[in-house]
Amino acid sequence: MKQLQINEVAPRDGLQIEAVFVPTEQKIQLINALLATGLARIEATSFTSPKAIPNLRDAEEVLRGITRRPETRITVLVPNEKGCERALSCGVDEINLVMSASESHSRVNLRMTPEQSLEKFANILQIASGSGVFINASLSTAFGCPFEGDIPMDQVLRRVDQLINLGIQGITLCDTTGMANPAQVGNLCEAVLQRWPDTPFTLHFHNTRGMGLANALAAWQAGIIRFDASLGGLGGCPYAPGATGNVCTEDLVHMFEQMGVNTGVDLDRLLSVAATLPDLVGHDTPGQVVRAGKADRRYAMP
Ligand code: COA
Ligand code: ZN
Repeated sequence: MKQLQINEVAPRDGLQIEAVFVPTEQKIQLINALLATGLARIEATSFTSPKAIPNLRDAEEVLRGITRRPETRITVLVPNEKGCERALSCGVDEINLVMSASESHSRVNLRMTPEQSLEKFANILQIASGSGVFINASLSTAFGCPFEGDIPMDQVLRRVDQLINLGIQGITLCDTTGMANPAQVGNLCEAVLQRWPDTPFTLHFHNTRGMGLANALAAWQAGIIRFDASLGGLGGCPYAPGATGNVCTEDLVHMFEQMGVNTGVDLDRLLSVAATLPDLVGHDTPGQVVRAGKADRRYAMP
């Protein structure tokens, strides 16, 4: 059985939407603590416009402040050419581009159409060529759009095809506002893996309607081994009404480890980092295992 690759997105997808600006030094401490847990990847920040995402306006300082480890790749979200140049100057391992499967979310989130996103991606691939940096693209609203509703699977497959033809190396299918259900996830994952067996696909779920872990399980059963997840279940797109937290990393790791699926992550360490979140963001987090303890927790008989 293949080891899972977990991409921790709390420092980006999580902190971008918080009401408070988490001070740079605390972001660095959080990422350093996450780096010690054995995660395959950490999405450390985004190189977006500071007006659009003020919480992550300290991207350069954060990346320069963390202590990198060879076993964990550092990836960052990039919306345009300028973001790409900023990311390359910080020596990232990966860049995660973002476009929407739906026209409306694309306009609201990125102020461009999906076609314009593809044009930008072509420029970005040119800027990054020769750098050795892995270029991934995240396809938002791949399982439904909060404005348009259902996104037909053909439309999603067409976007994936366009991205792969352009030279994008990895693709993340995002359920931006938790609209996906496990049957739909199984169908789309089977379709992409069958058509593009050599492309690394990652699945990105939000737990907005309580289906996050069920969707992750359905994706894994279809053959997916790469997942985005967010410590404490933080997260949400500021440009998607009703968006709430990502599937919670420690709950996801706990589920798979209980099933005997290796995640490469030290769950006890991860839980202790998750326990620091309420102080960091100023509120409780939706993670369950951090409260309940692992399934092997035992109680004294009353
Ligand atoms: N990094 C830093 N600054 C940037 C930037 C980047 N990647 N891209 C644009 N800017 C700055 C420009 O320099 C300009 O600054 P100025 O007003 O001081 O001249 C300003 O932002 C506007 O630039 P423009 O090219 O007109 O961009 P825009 O206002 O149309 O914004 C995006 C487009 C995509 C850059 C912006 O909407 C964005 O960053 N969105 C983030 C989306 C996101 O992360 N969503 C959540 C995750 S899915
Ligand atoms: Zn997300």
